[in-house]
Amino acid sequence: MPLSAMEYTKNSIGNFIIIFLLFAGVIYICTWSPLKSNPLLPYQKPRRFCSNSPLRTIKLPIDELELALERAAMPNKTLILAVVNSAYVQQSVKADTTMLDLFLESFWLGEETRQLLDNLLIVAVDQTAYDRCMFKRLNCYRLVTEGVDFAAEKVYMSKDFIKMMWRRTLLLLDVLKRGYSFIFTDTDVMWLRNPFVRLNKNETEDLQISVDEFNGDPRSEKNLINTGFYFIRSNNKTIELFSTWYEMKDDKNSTGKKEQDVLLDLMRDGYFQQLQLQVRFLDTKYFAGFCQDSRDIWSVTTVHSNCCRHIGAKVSDLKVVLRDWKRYKTFKSKYPGLGPNKNMTKKYRWSAHVACRNSWKTEYNSSSELD
Ligand SMILES: *[C@@H]1O[C@H](CO)[C@@H](O)[C@H](O)[C@H]1NC(C)=O
Ligand SMILES: *[C@@H]1O[C@H](CO)[C@@H](O)[C@H](O)[C@H]1NC(C)=O
Ligand SMILES: *[C@@H]1O[C@H](CO)[C@@H](O)[C@H](O)[C@H]1NC(C)=O
Ligand SMILES: *[C@@H]1O[C@H](CO)[C@@H](O)[C@H](O)[C@H]1NC(C)=O
Ligand SMILES: *[C@@H]1O[C@H](CO)[C@@H](O)[C@H](O)[C@H]1NC(C)=O
Ligand SMILES: *[C@@H]1O[C@H](CO)[C@@H](O)[C@H](O)[C@H]1NC(C)=O
Repeated sequence: MPLSAMEYTKNSIGNFIIIFLLFAGVIYICTWSPLKSNPLLPYQKPRRFCSNSPLRTIKLPIDELELALERAAMPNKTLILAVVNSAYVQQSVKADTTMLDLFLESFWLGEETRQLLDNLLIVAVDQTAYDRCMFKRLNCYRLVTEGVDFAAEKVYMSKDFIKMMWRRTLLLLDVLKRGYSFIFTDTDVMWLRNPFVRLNKNETEDLQISVDEFNGDPRSEKNLINTGFYFIRSNNKTIELFSTWYEMKDDKNSTGKKEQDVLLDLMRDGYFQQLQLQVRFLDTKYFAGFCQDSRDIWSVTTVHSNCCRHIGAKVSDLKVVLRDWKRYKTFKSKYPGLGPNKNMTKKYRWSAHVACRNSWKTEYNSSSELD
């Protein structure tokens, strides 16, 4: 039957062409990228358009930030953000570690914190910090501030330092606008337990923020906020809050102030109430710091080296925190039956923060951190 044989051949050639075109299309979509490569980012990770995500998740326009957020976020569009500059990644001759390394170490030593590293996005404000972040194989995003050269270390509260701080606030506003909720954490915060477990899950809570000293009332605006650790949900109210906060940068009253103090001013002026923002101030029992130690190592979640004057002192005392923590873990694994109710809380006190206490006594001139 020559006729049907010919039909068959024609059909199979047709099928072949269709399949070929399909393949070509897929390959085209996979290799085509709308992005211009950024000369400031020499070490970009390969994009993962076609690896495991279905094609329909591609949204245009897509940019570096969106990719970084997608990479780090949990399915519910929640992630952890930390901002790093060169002072946090560079080792002086005498030092044996850096702030960023201690921060990462805490995720390793903490309980149920290791997997959270996948959801951490490091925002690097200078090239050194970015290089270090990439070297550590983390999720990294390079934040560029126009008109500021961050190659040099910025002196605390200098003009450029303040410019960079506000740039950071603008970035966080951008993240909220893109629908991502996040924990913002300074890198001088040790993550000893998974904070998502301790944070209130009620969707009506807009902002849950750490404090220097907790006055016992999670709703009291008399608590002294600390912007070194907070969880913020993306919604209209929080976008409004961050917009206003950012606009304050040009306000005369904000001249020479840290953005944290500007936020504090907003709160004192009743702006939270005006927005009907639901704010919860976090108990230092769980979200502790050097200003006020956690009363309970059995439930402490984070430890912030606040109330400390410069990076050297912070690193020194945070190392002691991790040592205390390792002791506690050893003890706990040795006596698994013992718990917080069996007189053991007392036995596990934190060591004193000697270096930080002394940091107030000595004159310290450059690049110090004061929060
Ligand atoms: C998002 O999902 C993670 C993992 O399932 C969970 O721990 C976290 O609490 C969720 N975040 C919010 C804001 O619901
Ligand atoms: C969440 O908070 C709101 C207001 O505080 C309250 O009415 C609601 O019952 C809470 N929802 C849950 C699930 O706890
Ligand atoms: C938030 O604002 C947008 C645009 O202004 C509006 O469409 C949306 O309904 C608002 N959502 C809420 C929950 O108010
Ligand atoms: C600056 O602060 C003072 C006192 O808090 C207030 O009276 C004044 O209105 C503020 N100025 C501006 C421009 O916000
Ligand atoms: C706690 O310690 C006190 C004395 O240090 C002792 O009298 C008491 O029985 C202890 N309580 C428990 C529950 O072990
Ligand atoms: C800090 O600067 C002051 C002058 O601004 C100087 O007198 C002092 O010696 C400096 N201290 C140190 C530790 O460098």
